[in-house]
Amino acid sequence: MTQPTAIVIVGATGNLARKRIFPALFALFKNNLLPSTFRIIATARTPHSDNSFRKKVKDMLGLKDEVKWQSFAKVISYVPADFGEGINLAEITKKLDSFEKEAQTCILRIYYLSISPQIVKDAVQNLGKNKLHLGCRLHNTRPRIIVEKPFGKDLKTAQILEKTLSAYFAEEQIYRIDHYLGKETVQNIFVLRFGNDLFEPIWNNRYIDHIQITTAEGIGVEKRGQFYDKTGALRDITQNHLLQLLTLTTMEEPETFDVNGIREKKLEVLKNIKIPSVGEIINSTVRGQYKGYTQEENVSAGSKTETYALIKLFVNNTRWQGIPIYLRTGKKLMGKVTSIIIQFKEKSHKLLANFWQKPMPNHITLQIQPNEGIGIRLVAKKPGLTTALEPVDMEFCYKTSFDTPQPEAYERLLLDVILGDQSLFISQQEVEASWKIIDPVEKVWANGRPKLAIYEPGSWGPKEAEDLIKKDGRIWLAPLLTICKI
Ligand code: BG6
Repeated sequence: MTQPTAIVIVGATGNLARKRIFPALFALFKNNLLPSTFRIIATARTPHSDNSFRKKVKDMLGLKDEVKWQSFAKVISYVPADFGEGINLAEITKKLDSFEKEAQTCILRIYYLSISPQIVKDAVQNLGKNKLHLGCRLHNTRPRIIVEKPFGKDLKTAQILEKTLSAYFAEEQIYRIDHYLGKETVQNIFVLRFGNDLFEPIWNNRYIDHIQITTAEGIGVEKRGQFYDKTGALRDITQNHLLQLLTLTTMEEPETFDVNGIREKKLEVLKNIKIPSVGEIINSTVRGQYKGYTQEENVSAGSKTETYALIKLFVNNTRWQGIPIYLRTGKKLMGKVTSIIIQFKEKSHKLLANFWQKPMPNHITLQIQPNEGIGIRLVAKKPGLTTALEPVDMEFCYKTSFDTPQPEAYERLLLDVILGDQSLFISQQEVEASWKIIDPVEKVWANGRPKLAIYEPGSWGPKEAEDLIKKDGRIWLAPLLTICKI
């Protein structure tokens, strides 16, 4: 990889930069995966010198690896600037130009907007006004821009944001991050389905009863009250991460394994999702809030923002007709787990009918995190002189099957931006199709229906969520089926 590259991190003093972006860049740097000529231009409103910011990064990373740090520190510089208000952006241009001069060739410019969603639009506008969207004229190297979810807060704002972005950048230059797509186990959904002939014949409504997709977190809103209180669980996780997991689990096989092929099939699923009616939203969704949420920092006292969201969707196509897909997410739950559980239909196994004490349907668990792996629940004969049946789990665990560590999602995604591969990024059409599903739910929820259910921190969420699935004759399988607990 030879093209000299500069990445401008806007919002470099923020939470995301600290927790994900700098650690990922440092990991790539340590493993010699970045272009040999590489610069990081960090920018935020807070005043810093290059050195004081470098020290901050060193602290963020909790570094011991002094030797590598010294050379990493040299690629970082800091420019105080306000992208939202358009202040001091000319300094960024100067930095980029001087880097280009030094490199004696065109550089690839990458802008990473790691800022509050409320100011993304203004930031893009200011970037354009300052001509930062123009690349190197000599070789026509076009800059790339990375935008973080949520993309807007509904369909309308997502379209407005897109209008602003497309005034300066073409779709091939825009990298919309949903970091779940950078996770190893999420990429493996694709491989499981389309790399193994075993599953395809049974991956449909003839054999599958329903699907449960869960992202549970033990943490609360932490220091993100200001953002979270305006966002809520449905916009923060369901609109993006959960809908993306749903598309990967249910999409048809793309004709080509590339950005266009994959995007086309994902979009098809999103467009086929039945938009829930008002009645369905009232009766088949749950919005919850953990006890104590309104006392969190920067959360308004009477806030009705949900920290737990459960919705039930149907994909209206031949493969999935009639199969409920439950998407649930929540903060301050009993622990961290993300999983996709596919429950198969119960068969009347005539041959073994006498030995069947209770129903034991098969399940496939895709354990996204932690204890990454895949489990298949089967029924087996319990060893002994009589015939008794027991459920057993067959497991593939990353920890035991591979001795290579899994890269962090942001490492993969940042590398893909540098390489110009958009396969793991979201298209504008996907963004819009996702809002079309979420907006009607938000609208009914904003009118206070169904009632906000308060749940205990450390529980598995509101009782209403248990009742909802029970009413459908089912139970929650995560974390019951958690696998790879080694
Ligand atoms: C982010 C959400 O997109 O994902 C956070 O904004 C959430 O609220 C985080 O905590 C969870 O990511 P992960 O990778 O820890 O599952």
